[in-house]
Amino acid sequence: MKMLVATTNRGKVRELAEALDGLGFEILDLEGAGLADRPAPEESGSTFAENALLKASIWFEASGLLTVADDSGLVVDILGGRPGLHSARYGDTDAERIRRLLSEMDGVPSTERTARFVCSLALVGENLAEVFTGECEGRIRHTSHGSAGFGYDPVFTPDGENRTFAEMSPGEKSAISHRGNAIRKLREFITGR
Ligand code: IMP
Repeated sequence: MKMLVATTNRGKVRELAEALDGLGFEILDLEGAGLADRPAPEESGSTFAENALLKASIWFEASGLLTVADDSGLVVDILGGRPGLHSARYGDTDAERIRRLLSEMDGVPSTERTARFVCSLALVGENLAEVFTGECEGRIRHTSHGSAGFGYDPVFTPDGENRTFAEMSPGEKSAISHRGNAIRKLREFITGR
């Protein structure tokens, strides 16, 4: 059975394809499904779950294929939840997004730098619409550490760790990350375990 992973981000497609390995799906991305030219749907929801469901529903209608779509971001307590749903649009580059975040948190002590990454994955098909949300609690560092990963990884240290996500291997990160947790829930749903 074919499954559309509705993203143009090759990293996300690879991560999902690995997580669903052995379940008998042929994984396609938007390009593989011949949909790469379509404009991306507007992310008009007010939660990560709503946005993931919106995207998966639209791409399911366009493709007729069982579809997975995601939405994710960083929620910082002292900033009232920002950047949140706007995590990807907080600046033009990862470096600018991090600079803006750190400058907004200038002078905030370590104890008040609590934050969490959130990832919602929606699975939509014929008579099917399910959302799986994973979170990862941690704190925002005062400066960047490490060069692995992407996005806000260099300034996020998960609870129980001293390193940032950007100082971990992909396997170490996904064992505890928001996306890893959401993917594990999706896999459990599909396998019925
Ligand atoms: P989207 O889910 O592709 O809309 O992007 C969400 C944005 O949140 C990304 O562009 C990153 O800035 C941020 N983000 C989401 N997950 C992660 C992560 O695992 N590490 C670092 N940043 C992330």
